[in-house]
Amino acid sequence: MRFKMILASSLSKKIYMSIAGLVWSAFLLVHLLGNLQLLNPDRDPFNKYSYFLTHQTGEFIYLAEFLLAFFFITHFLYAIWVQIGNWRARPHGYSMVRWAKNTSKRSLGSVTMIYTGALVLIFLVLHLIHFKYGEVVYYTPKGYTHQIRDMYFTVMEFFKNPVNVFFYVAVMVLLGFHLSHGAWSAFQSLGLSGKRFTPFIYTIGVLFAIVVAVGFVFLPLWIYFTRGGAL
Ligand code: HEM
Repeated sequence: MRFKMILASSLSKKIYMSIAGLVWSAFLLVHLLGNLQLLNPDRDPFNKYSYFLTHQTGEFIYLAEFLLAFFFITHFLYAIWVQIGNWRARPHGYSMVRWAKNTSKRSLGSVTMIYTGALVLIFLVLHLIHFKYGEVVYYTPKGYTHQIRDMYFTVMEFFKNPVNVFFYVAVMVLLGFHLSHGAWSAFQSLGLSGKRFTPFIYTIGVLFAIVVAVGFVFLPLWIYFTRGGAL
């Protein structure tokens, strides 16, 4: 009973969502850095990196995938729970959203969290279907005697289609909005706030969101317009 009450308290929900959100933010940064190898017209470094992650890290990759899935799903379920609570508390909603300049951090990012989060969830399912569980082509990279998956080829083929490029760019912009509020508010919920600290954390959160969104927007555009560096 006590455990149930702790789980349901709005502070625990926020703290849990913050931790899950920060884990995902760290993943996004690492994922972006790894994906920057797609800018290299030589397919080997990216494919060897992908092969290392999927075949040479032992049980670690399964644990990491399990934790990512767990944190994503629970972060989303908690978000819906909090949102339903908010709707119940204000059944008619606000007739007008006011952007409080100095008193709060109400922003486009903050009022659209549940919608941008839902879109990222849909994106993620499609993303895994296309790449992780998509077409598998094998080849033998330089210095190897056996074949490995040519993930580079799968990505290049995918971003030849302007519809896919447009979809990715649009979702990455929305992801940026989600992160711009999420990163800052996570630190706030974890108690890292104060007169001096809050503006600092806010700036770091927004900068992080911009770096991640711009990085992920750049990749499909660059692949599309340069044909993967071939031009
Ligand atoms: C331009 C943007 C992106 C590109 C080009 C990209 C590329 C890829 C590729 C190639 C893989 C397969 C890796 C492998 O199996 O070796 C992958 C996996 C994955 N991506 Fe992305 N990605 C992008 C954006 C994102 C975003 C924004 C998210 C999260 C919101 C994300 C989450 C994931 C996850 C969770 C996996 C599975 C990792 C695993 O199970 O090991 N990706 N991505």
